[in-house]
Amino acid sequence: MIDPNTVKNKALVAWVDKWAALTTPDNVVWCDGSQEEADMLYNQMIAKGACIKLNQEKRPGCHLFRSDPRDVARVEARTFICSNTKQEAGPTNNWMDPKEMKLKLNDLFKGCMKGRTMYVIPFSMGPIGGPISQIGIEITDSPYVVVSMRIMARVSPKVLEVLGETGKFVPCVHSVGKPINTPEDDVAWPCNPENTYITHFPETREIISFGSGYGGNALLGKKCFSLRIASAMGKAEGWMAEHMLILGVTDPKGRKSYVTGAFPSACGKTNFAMLIAPKELQDKGWKITCVGDDIAWIKPGPDGRLYAINPENGFFGVAPGTSMKTNPNALLSCAKNTIFTNVALTDDGDVWWEGMTKEKPAHLIDWLGNDWTPESETPAAHPNSRFAAPIENCPCLDENAEKLEGVPVSAIVIGGRRPKGIPLVFESFNWTHGVYLGAMMGSERTAAAEGKQGELRSDPMAMLPFAGYNMADYLGHLVSMGKGLSQTPRFYHVNWFRRDENGDFMWPGFGANARVLAWIVNRQYGEAKAKETAIGFVPNYDDIDWDGMEYSADTFAELMSYDAETVAAQPLKEELYDQLPHSLKVEREALLERLS
Ligand code: OXD
Ligand code: MN
Repeated sequence: MIDPNTVKNKALVAWVDKWAALTTPDNVVWCDGSQEEADMLYNQMIAKGACIKLNQEKRPGCHLFRSDPRDVARVEARTFICSNTKQEAGPTNNWMDPKEMKLKLNDLFKGCMKGRTMYVIPFSMGPIGGPISQIGIEITDSPYVVVSMRIMARVSPKVLEVLGETGKFVPCVHSVGKPINTPEDDVAWPCNPENTYITHFPETREIISFGSGYGGNALLGKKCFSLRIASAMGKAEGWMAEHMLILGVTDPKGRKSYVTGAFPSACGKTNFAMLIAPKELQDKGWKITCVGDDIAWIKPGPDGRLYAINPENGFFGVAPGTSMKTNPNALLSCAKNTIFTNVALTDDGDVWWEGMTKEKPAHLIDWLGNDWTPESETPAAHPNSRFAAPIENCPCLDENAEKLEGVPVSAIVIGGRRPKGIPLVFESFNWTHGVYLGAMMGSERTAAAEGKQGELRSDPMAMLPFAGYNMADYLGHLVSMGKGLSQTPRFYHVNWFRRDENGDFMWPGFGANARVLAWIVNRQYGEAKAKETAIGFVPNYDDIDWDGMEYSADTFAELMSYDAETVAAQPLKEELYDQLPHSLKVEREALLERLS
């Protein structure tokens, strides 16, 4: 705990006082992110039945939470970008006039923390004091948010030292929206689904969130700050906030490269970020390390190259499907000091979720707290159940993950789930062409996504729910960021999810993706060949290292073929396409010309 009397930043103190006066909590606690503070909060939550301490021999420092079944995911329909005009929010964001929204929020927040404690969390996105890092302060009435934020961000009194007397911070206000008026209001997972609002004010760089305690709705350092507000900051200041993983690749010559990757939700981004190369490639010296699995802040460095940091300090990963087979590094990252939300509880106090083991346990308590057996018709873990694991647990953490100035970016990988017509990999002709490919990105909807399963959801640069301003201007900003660099990363469009006529995946994915990554990395040195096609440069069969893998040249030819109609499709809303920068429309004309 921090003594509020020691806080030197007057604007911060005044801001906290203002919100405390409006929300009327029973008390205000300034958090220091320490283990003692977390232990105290866990114990309070355990006593209330809000959380379960897991078997400490099997999962030291780990806890399980079960949310209200109405509060299980980010709610895009209730997420708003409140820029001064609707045009600035653009055609893909929900917009409300900032004054109108503030009035609405003022009503909702009046007395909303009654009976609760208001926590003040000073946090840094990125290493504390780093040149690309940013400071935020989150006010919340959820102790679950406090213990989660200390995993996902850097929570420390040092943040206030860096802030000093006059430093600027991004103010983040959060309430579960459930004052305790009667003892019945004091439930295990308070929330207010009827009145949920996740709001962003890009001009004043504020975040205000009401009604949900789950994930990105409540841990405001993540999607709200590090993507929506940071993207607007980046536009104004000449940098980029991207929905990208960052990984390191050591090649057989001992050279180190860094690759970022933008993939929509449910495309195996965490798996790719923690990829393990096949043994045959490892034996030659290939090694992959992880810097981050979700967000990259990218800035031109003094040498004119792009440098990336992972602003987060933990992984907030989807649990189902994670196993020692699919992603051992993710599972091992959850070995200790991890928060699990909405997964199943085993009889010996451990966790389980669909896909974790081939054999299902004979008995579990499911995410709703009910008995579960393999005969049960509902899943034991919610499909969007999560782990929040400290990044320091990651066995393949990159040695430069904490580097203040970030790591140099050599290539940018983009892609989605494309069952038909899109090849395994192709390289952009140049930066603007790469941004065009990013703009046209899309992914097949999976069972977890809203909308019709199997339908293609347009998701430019995987930023559809995360761009904090007009998507067309965002894409224009990306185009401009490629200008004047001393070394311009190439874009690689990948598709791990192509299916054959029987509906089976044509590519095994997982470790095999490292073979594609090796080609990508070698391309920057001119050490891997490629063939020019209408859609970009593609590897020939012999340009991929097949050592230890059987894959015929004929199947590869099929996997690498493209369907001109699918490639030419324009998935963007007309309103968005009309507003695109001219250079991207020129890219489209050029593509159509090449295809004809
Ligand atoms: C996430 C997402 O949770 O992109 O990271 O939805
Ligand atoms: Mn994400």
